[in-house]
This record gives sequence, structure tokens and C-alpha cells, in this order.
Amino acid sequence: MTDNITWFHGIQVMPGSFTVESLSFAQNFLVKDDDVFLVTYPRSGTHWMCEILSLIVSKGDPTWVQTVNIHQRIPWVEYSNSQKVLMDQDRPHLMVTHLPIQLFPKSYFTSKAKIIYLIRNPRDVVVSNYYFKNHVPFLKNEKPFDDYLHGFIRGDMHYGSWFDHTLGWLTRRNTENFLLMSYEELQRDLRGNMEKVCQFLGKHLSPEQLDSAVQYSSFSVMKDNRMSNSAKIKNSEDKTDSSIPLLRKGISGDWKNHFTVAQSEVFVKIYREKMSSLDPGLFPWSKDC
Ligand code: A3P
Repeated sequence: MTDNITWFHGIQVMPGSFTVESLSFAQNFLVKDDDVFLVTYPRSGTHWMCEILSLIVSKGDPTWVQTVNIHQRIPWVEYSNSQKVLMDQDRPHLMVTHLPIQLFPKSYFTSKAKIIYLIRNPRDVVVSNYYFKNHVPFLKNEKPFDDYLHGFIRGDMHYGSWFDHTLGWLTRRNTENFLLMSYEELQRDLRGNMEKVCQFLGKHLSPEQLDSAVQYSSFSVMKDNRMSNSAKIKNSEDKTDSSIPLLRKGISGDWKNHFTVAQSEVFVKIYREKMSSLDPGLFPWSKDC
């Protein structure tokens, strides 16, 4: 085992959670046609979609989400402590990752595996990330929000730049077996979007099973479910584990409570420059960005 690392191929990774071996394992992971990946940039609603997927797999029965930790149900591809869970899982694999496209398992690109790519308004991602770090003792933000925001714009973040992550993954959007979902759409119509995921995965849930899946993946129920609202984070300094909450406010547009007018203007200018190659209509937040 090599030492924990904080950079891999130019991408910043969370200290304490990665080794060269764990990231190489991810890159060399043998993807099969019936595998399914959930791919997100951090704080985009990853665990919400994990809960939705768990409830689709269990046909709306909440027993699994109430008795098994979310990271044991749907393992991570890149975390060393999750790879054993992944390898012990029955095929086909259902996995989650924050990896940017250039660090993704190479065999995926010649497979028919399915990807759900979940995006969220980047301004809400910044705010959510800012608060999340404060729960992690060794990541606690000493900086004011403005510095943090500029770090986000520069791409000085774990898993690299939001812009690069999104632009990279969206090159796949017209390929077979790629489903683009957004946090905002899930909030607007959870049931309808859950049906879309079922259809993509070839799963059928009865109306009652769907009702139950909607109920158990709601913010309030998930927040009270300790199997879904807690993550173990290893402290890179003293190697101890701490448990941190994953759910915070669960709303769209919280950025408006944090960005000044000047910060918003700077962000929109850079956003438009960086995202100019994509149709703005692709994003639910395009009206005000
Ligand atoms: P906020 O910090 O804005 O509340 P990730 O799982 O990628 O880390 O994303 C975390 C964000 O998703 C947090 O956003 C969290 O509250 C939100 N979230 C998680 N479950 C949710 C749910 N059931 N409904 C709405 N938002 C949810």
C-alpha cells in the first residue's frame, strides 16, 4: 500500500481517502455491459440519487435503505475502503463516483455500461461544498466565502474544476446509455424523474411502489435516516474516523443567500465564457446564469 495522496494526474483528491493503488484500481476496473454508474461532481445530490436508485432496486421497499449504510449499498469506484464492497457485490455492479472523465475506468469506453450523470446549479454546489467542508475537522474552511468561491472558479477543488468535470462528461451526452439528470429537475418532479430513471434502467415499479420510493427518498425522511445521512471520513492526520452528516438544506437557489451581486456577476461572466460551447438550454439554471 502506498501513502495516501492529495493529487493524482493533476486532480486534487481528498486527503486520507485515496492511494495511487485505489485510483489505479478505478482506472483499470473491468466494466461490463450491464454495469451502471452514477457520476456526479461533489455536492450535486449524489446521495439523493443513490437513495433513489436503492429504492428502485428494492421496488420501493424501505427495508434496505433503513438497515444498510448508503455507501455499502452503492459502493464508490475510487475510494480504497469501498473497493472491497464493490468486488464483493453481485454483478451487475451499481456504482457511484465523482471521477472526472479522464480518470474513469478505461474499459467503460468500449462497453455498453450505463451512466447517470447528475448535475446541479454550480452556485448551489459551491455553497453546499463550503458548508460540507466545515463538518470535516481537517478540511474546515479557514477562508472567507469569497476566497472559497474564487478557488471554485479556478478549479482549486477536490476532483478538480466543476467546469472541466461537466464539460468533460457532457461530451458523452449523445452516446447510447447516458442519462443526464439534474438536481433541480428532481426537485421539480421527483416522481416523474424517478420514472425516467426506471425506464433508463429497464425497471418497472407499480404506482404504489413508486409512491413509496418517492416518500422514502424525500429530504425529511432521508435526513432522519442515519443509514443515509452519515458518512465516515478518515482523518488524514491522526487516521481516526469521524461521522459527518450528508444532508444540509436540500433546496435549490440557496446561492442567492450567499452570493453578493458582485460575486454573482463575476461568476456569470466566467460561467458564460467557459460553458459557451454548450446549448444553455441544457441546464435548468440557464435563465439566470
Ligand atoms: P445542500 O448542502 O444544498 O443542502 P452530495 O450527495 O452530492 O454530497 O450532495 C449533497 C446535497 O444534496 C446537499 O445539498 C444535500 O442536502 C442534498 N440532498 C441530499 N438528499 C436530498 C434530498 N432527498 N432532497 C433534496 N436534497 C438532498
